[in-house]
Amino acid sequence: MFTKDDNRALDEILKNRRICRKFDDRVPSKEDVAAVVEAGRLAPYASISSGDVEVFRHFFVLFRGNPMLADIDRLIRAQSFLDVEQLRAEMEVDPFLQQYGAGLENMWSHVAEAGLPIFPDPPCLIVLAEWRGARRAERQSLAHTIQNMWLKATALNLDFNLISPLESMVDNQEFCALFGLPAGRYGFHGCVVGYRAAEKLVSKPISAQVHWL
Ligand SMILES: Cc1cc2nc3c(=O)[nH]c(=O)nc-3n(C[C@H](O)[C@H](O)[C@H](O)COP(=O)(O)O)c2cc1C
Repeated sequence: MFTKDDNRALDEILKNRRICRKFDDRVPSKEDVAAVVEAGRLAPYASISSGDVEVFRHFFVLFRGNPMLADIDRLIRAQSFLDVEQLRAEMEVDPFLQQYGAGLENMWSHVAEAGLPIFPDPPCLIVLAEWRGARRAERQSLAHTIQNMWLKATALNLDFNLISPLESMVDNQEFCALFGLPAGRYGFHGCVVGYRAAEKLVSKPISAQVHWL
């Protein structure tokens, strides 16, 4: 059974989990990164699809200096260019996107032009791939996996960034081939683990409401 101290430790980890957008020069140890990956491995998965393949969840770990990081940087830019083109086409016919899509269009076109600020030299990038299965529940599974990893990184005093553009790589032949996976069969997500360069950001209060009915 867990103790009250265990419970308090969990609360502290939950409260201290924060996004990091700028890392310093330090590279995390292989041991710490392995512990973060192990937390991801323990995350729940969609069991109905998990038997389709021998390995349904992959973690690819790339430390600073790995030449594949330049390929990933280039592929993220190229994919963001395609994504923003598609978004613009959808915005022409979708009033919701016309009203709310400008921020996303702006962000994706910036990534298409300049790349993600954390590239080409992140301290440690972890690319996650999850088998899609007939249920197509890979995005939920990836979110659970990322959250486990984020909390573990927090507990290890490591900082964490999400690389959401990797979610668009499902059908990207060159990206999938880079990891030896067939295109269209795996969903992707990614994170960077390292040490924060600047002070913690003060973010806006979370606008959630609880309704006790
Ligand atoms: C679905 C989702 C996608 C996100 N994608 C990114 C991302 O690509 N890059 C990034 O820096 N932060 C990303 N974030 C982090 C949020 O911006 C961040 O969690 C939010 O601003 C609250 O800040 P906090 O994490 O410090 O509490 C994402 C968060 C969620 C839930």
